[in-house]
Amino acid sequence: MELDGKVAAVTGGTRGVGAGIARALLRAGARVLVCARRPPEEPLPGVEFVPLDVRDAEAVGQWCAGLPRLDVLVNNAGGAPHRMLTEAGADRHARVVELNLLAPLTVSLAAHDHLRRARGSIVMIGSVSGSRPSPGTAAYGAAKAGLESLARSMAVEWAPDIRVNTLVVGMVRTERSHLHYGDRDGIAAVSRTVPLGRLAEPSDVGAAAVFLASPAAAYISGASLHVHGGGERPSFLDAANAGHRSDADKESRHERNL
Ligand SMILES: NC(=O)c1ccc[n+]([C@@H]2O[C@H](COP(=O)([O-])OP(=O)(O)OC[C@H]3O[C@@H](n4cnc5c(N)ncnc54)[C@H](OP(=O)(O)O)[C@@H]3O)[C@@H](O)[C@H]2O)c1
Repeated sequence: MELDGKVAAVTGGTRGVGAGIARALLRAGARVLVCARRPPEEPLPGVEFVPLDVRDAEAVGQWCAGLPRLDVLVNNAGGAPHRMLTEAGADRHARVVELNLLAPLTVSLAAHDHLRRARGSIVMIGSVSGSRPSPGTAAYGAAKAGLESLARSMAVEWAPDIRVNTLVVGMVRTERSHLHYGDRDGIAAVSRTVPLGRLAEPSDVGAAAVFLASPAAAYISGASLHVHGGGERPSFLDAANAGHRSDADKESRHERNL
């Protein structure tokens, strides 16, 4: 298997996208460690759990120092509550940047020696929010934009020993999707906006992470791979089409009246 004999760590690997990545790495043959503040609610057979807050640099350093080796690091822990900019002070927004940008840097630095020795790789979990306006999660979008930039610089500074890439993820169906995308009807409506007609499953992101971590991606570093089902259709096209349709309706009514 692609990752036989390799050790992989997934931050925030206890649920959602991270659990999908952990399962995929395990299926690819890796020994998989996941960390989060709380243990997984759903069992993850074969995956080892470590309690850790990735914002705590000292605890992260101790955890990495205790690892026997590390070949793959997936910086997945992240997220943000929906909050308009004026609904919170700068300190609350800074916490979002801390989790989504600074913590991946903290963990990557702590893991650097292991990854260098193993000639390993880092996969950052980015978001489409980093490359378009992100109203309601502005600090999160800014942090994800920064994460992609950080990955590109890291890929240059740490070459040729460590490859660093970003998965730019679109909407994913997780245990918590209802918080972002609503109930079943909401998810169905949101799915219709995706060219491939559905939200991603965590396993879709997992498959892409395995690819980037595997020898098949040996010449890929500093890259961003979009896992977003085709992206977002520009909304102005629908507005323009609606305009065309109403003009066409007016014309056909006019023709009928002639
Ligand atoms: N879901 C989507 O639609 C979507 C779309 C684009 C990108 N993404 C990205 O995918 C990643 C995972 O998202 P998700 O939707 O799967 O989120 P999620 O369901 O909220 O899971 C987040 C994971 O991170 C852990 N975590 C949170 N804060 C942590 C901390 N300070 N230290 C250690 N672990 C922490 C959580 O466990 P604890 O709470 O127990 O610590 C959990 O395991 C994020 O980077 C997110 O930005 C998600």
